Amino acid sequence: MSSPATTASATDRPATTGPTRMQAVIAPRYGGPDVLDPAVLDLPAIADDEVLVEVHAAGVDRGTLHLLTGTPYVVRVLGFGLRRPKQPVPGLDLAGVVVATGSAVTRFQVGDEVFGIGRGAFAQFAAAKESKLSPKPASVSFESAAAVAVSGATALQSVTDVGGVKAGQSVLVIGASGGVGSFAVQIAVALGARVTGVSSAAKADAVRALGAVDVIDYARADYLDGENRYDLIIDAGGLNPVRRLQRALTATGTLVIVGGEGGDRWTGGIARNARAALLSRFSRQRLTAFLSREHHDSTDRLARLLDSGAVAPVIGRVHPLTEARRALADLASGRTTGKTVLTIHPANA
Ligand SMILES: NC(=O)c1ccc[n+]([C@@H]2O[C@H](COP(=O)([O-])OP(=O)(O)OC[C@H]3O[C@@H](n4cnc5c(N)ncnc54)[C@H](OP(=O)(O)O)[C@@H]3O)[C@@H](O)[C@H]2O)c1
Repeated sequence: MSSPATTASATDRPATTGPTRMQAVIAPRYGGPDVLDPAVLDLPAIADDEVLVEVHAAGVDRGTLHLLTGTPYVVRVLGFGLRRPKQPVPGLDLAGVVVATGSAVTRFQVGDEVFGIGRGAFAQFAAAKESKLSPKPASVSFESAAAVAVSGATALQSVTDVGGVKAGQSVLVIGASGGVGSFAVQIAVALGARVTGVSSAAKADAVRALGAVDVIDYARADYLDGENRYDLIIDAGGLNPVRRLQRALTATGTLVIVGGEGGDRWTGGIARNARAALLSRFSRQRLTAFLSREHHDSTDRLARLLDSGAVAPVIGRVHPLTEARRALADLASGRTTGKTVLTIHPANA
């Protein structure tokens, strides 16, 4: 391999035998996709528990968009940078090849193909904690693998760990055509649930193709009128009030609030999440909101689902890194289906 290789000491730049500079995209300040600029940077330093990944493909997700815009503003005080992004290179989801390892890394070595969550994935090289990476199945392409970790792990945890889905249950996935929802539908179907998806009419066929028995157009039908009741609702779109979501749950059903866009600029959906926790105390229904956990436990499980063919990322669009602005703008405006992936040209090609 002609990439930088070997073991690095804590927070050092990795000793390299290859390139020391890389192509990247940077966000010098908070703002929309237009603030993104191409840049040539030093390779990122890695800590003891991190590896350096030569990124072949990076996933585009709502979290990256929130960190780019610095909204809701609460993200700024949570440590991501008060005035500008602390991490100037955006991007979380990645798939690529390990080219250097920190001194405490035990699970990976140089040359391993991995996928998961890193720091600054919109670049030719990115640092990533080994705890947030999994081996990439040989049967899965880098492009597909890059679409998985953020949305797939959120979906897996919401459907299984938090939602506790069981075979035969009826599940409503709101936002079924999106990044999280497209995984949630497939995972619930794979576990034997009967899934109804909620999406725009234009994307209904894509949701049906994932195994949903029914798809409801959120613009045309009130899917929370209580006529149909579900054992589990995965709520990843629309910001419906908790009381309305409760109406579509069975008497002992479970609501898992993942998120939704368009909440207030300061706190996003936090008030709704708090309301769910409060109302849950006075109900036989379980009303929950959760934040996904970034750990290889989930991506290891997803790797098995991908390898078996039970789950396949829905990749609506693929762009080169140079089109990162457009990729994020399309996500922000709801033009994408499933996931968008950026392909990244190797440093030595
Ligand atoms: N809690 C966590 O740890 C966590 C993790 C990841 C993401 N999230 C949050 O979860 C949400 C979904 O993420 P994502 O990546 O799946 O986003 P996404 O790819 O943009 O998908 C959004 C989904 O919402 C649907 N939608 C839009 N307007 C709607 C409405 N009025 N009613 C019902 N559905 C509507 C969209 O349908 P159409 O595209 O068909 O219009 C699409 O299916 C985001 O707010 C994200 O920030 C939370």
